[in-house]
Amino acid sequence: MTASEGTILQAEDLTKEFKGFFAVDGVNLSIKRGSIHALIGPNGAGKTTCFNLLTKFLPPTRGRITFKGQDITAMSPADIARLGMVRSFQISAVFPHLSAIENVRIALQRQRGDSFDFWRSERVLNEFNSRAAELLADVGLTEFSNVQAVELPYGRKRALEIATTLALDPEMLLLDEPTAGMTPEDVERVAALIKRIGANRTILMVEHNLSVVSTISDTITVLARGKVLAEGNYETVSKDPRVVEAYIGGGHG
Ligand SMILES: Nc1ncnc2c1ncn2[C@@H]1O[C@H](COP(=O)(O)OP(=O)(O)O)[C@@H](O)[C@H]1O
Ligand SMILES: [Mg+2]
Repeated sequence: MTASEGTILQAEDLTKEFKGFFAVDGVNLSIKRGSIHALIGPNGAGKTTCFNLLTKFLPPTRGRITFKGQDITAMSPADIARLGMVRSFQISAVFPHLSAIENVRIALQRQRGDSFDFWRSERVLNEFNSRAAELLADVGLTEFSNVQAVELPYGRKRALEIATTLALDPEMLLLDEPTAGMTPEDVERVAALIKRIGANRTILMVEHNLSVVSTISDTITVLARGKVLAEGNYETVSKDPRVVEAYIGGGHG
């Protein structure tokens, strides 16, 4: 299998064995540049393990991962972040007692990784302030700018985490269950947000909520028992009898 021009992330024969148990078993994945790609499947299918392999939080037992044509199999999460592939909550830099805008500003400052002296330049600080305000607007948090992170409702807190991740300006963003534990209104808002931020970058998300997946994904890969069961758009995979069976037989939820 060779990476086509439109492929940004590719996994070949990705496998993770835990003491004889294959949580991820020979998975081939090809993520198209600019797409929103969802990884779904019943509980225990291997989604989180796969996510951790792709983001280099776990070493694979076997297989190869390439990002923008470069072999990243042996790289660290920090290495791949520098290449432009960032996992949401990787920096998990939400400081509870700082305001939303301060949190985003800190993420921007980190991204620049500059020295202390640098921070004292007013011009630079103003630049960060306006960029932080833009990012907050992007995730719909303008009216919460001066609210302490700890005071934000759950869904808004997740939106703030996404904003701090976007501060790194990743070319590719990986999200693990971005709507988990949210109220239906928050789910809708975050789904719309993912759609919006996906307009000019690639997104791979693990998602349990099928209605979210159905409305925003370009491509869906269904995992079951560590293997790829089906792949395609929502129309196609949702009608696939093996997928229906896996969700019913595998215990969805
Ligand atoms: N560190 C681990 N050690 C042993 N088994 C694990 C470990 N992590 C996950 N598993 C097993 O691998 C399977 C897939 O888990 P996971 O990737 O979390 O699935 P999903 O996210 O789709 O629910 C499960 O049966 C789980 O118990
Ligand atoms: Mg999981």
